[in-house]
Amino acid sequence: MEQEQWRALVHRAALAPSSHNTQPWRFVVRDGALELHADRTRALPVNDPGDRELTISCAAALFNLRVAAAAAGFLANVSFPFDGDLLARVALAPGPGAVPGALAASIALRHTCRDPFAPGPVDPRIRDGLASAAAAEGAALSWLEGKALREKVADLVAEGDRLQFAEKRWRRELAEWMHPSRDDDGLPVERFGGVVRFVVSRFNVGGSTAGKDEVFALHAPALAVLTTPADELADWMAAGQALERVLLVAAAQGFQAGYLNQPCQIPALRPRLQELAGLADPPQLLLRFGRPPGDPPPHRRRPVGDILTFA
Ligand SMILES: Cc1cc2nc3c(=O)[nH]c(=O)nc-3n(C[C@H](O)[C@H](O)[C@H](O)COP(=O)(O)O)c2cc1C
Repeated sequence: MEQEQWRALVHRAALAPSSHNTQPWRFVVRDGALELHADRTRALPVNDPGDRELTISCAAALFNLRVAAAAAGFLANVSFPFDGDLLARVALAPGPGAVPGALAASIALRHTCRDPFAPGPVDPRIRDGLASAAAAEGAALSWLEGKALREKVADLVAEGDRLQFAEKRWRRELAEWMHPSRDDDGLPVERFGGVVRFVVSRFNVGGSTAGKDEVFALHAPALAVLTTPADELADWMAAGQALERVLLVAAAQGFQAGYLNQPCQIPALRPRLQELAGLADPPQLLLRFGRPPGDPPPHRRRPVGDILTFA
């Protein structure tokens, strides 16, 4: 493989979602294979003390890599050394990919939606397709339906918002990833200039955020929990690959997702979400799906030269 080909693959891998858009990954080409490393200098110790979401983010990038490789005519042979920060090693061989290369066209179309979705249901056939996408990667996507269940989940999301925003360290960490002067990582603040960062770090805006998220959970065209059989490193790798597979399948059909993860992030709320949703397995992510109301802002990503090295 030419260096340019590796760069093209890593560019697509890095279009994956990551919590607070930290992009906590590094790639190394060594002995003809590509290594995926966790970049723990980009961890979120308050929001994600166990690096669970960090690992899920890296695994989402791995799924993009597998799809991009398939689209380029390669079979990606992935091993999981789990050696310190080294999460995965990808060796490529010419041949048909084990994942659909056609999904590569959706990599740049996928965006996180933070606005209300356009009204209208998500067709049951599409929901079945998304659940199959999660299952293909060793996770499960369960739909949360019915008014009573939605209300309970919405209450839990709102409780999560209030708990997180009440914690000064959590607010400061969020504010650190809202930087108006840089546009290659972190969360978008351009509509508000520097004001919002100041507000988030200084004041508890948990009440208004809770109100917005509660409405999102109640009225989302579709609401689902992604679960994995257990809650170990291998499960988080499965969750991230399943997440990205689900999101790419959704994007191919004009659907996007938004995150309502608070009940999965707060240890006291996670078992409550599992119980009220009747889930046998631990919840990893809570997602709403629908058609976005308009065009998304451009992706904010670091240049490939900053995340890829040739050993
Ligand atoms: C594990 C994980 C957790 C996330 N949690 C949230 C969240 O709680 N709230 C939110 O608005 N976005 C969340 N996101 C979405 C990221 O903020 C988003 O991926 C990032 O800002 C990049 O934007 P993009 O997805 O549009 O490319 C999460 C993403 C991942 C992978």
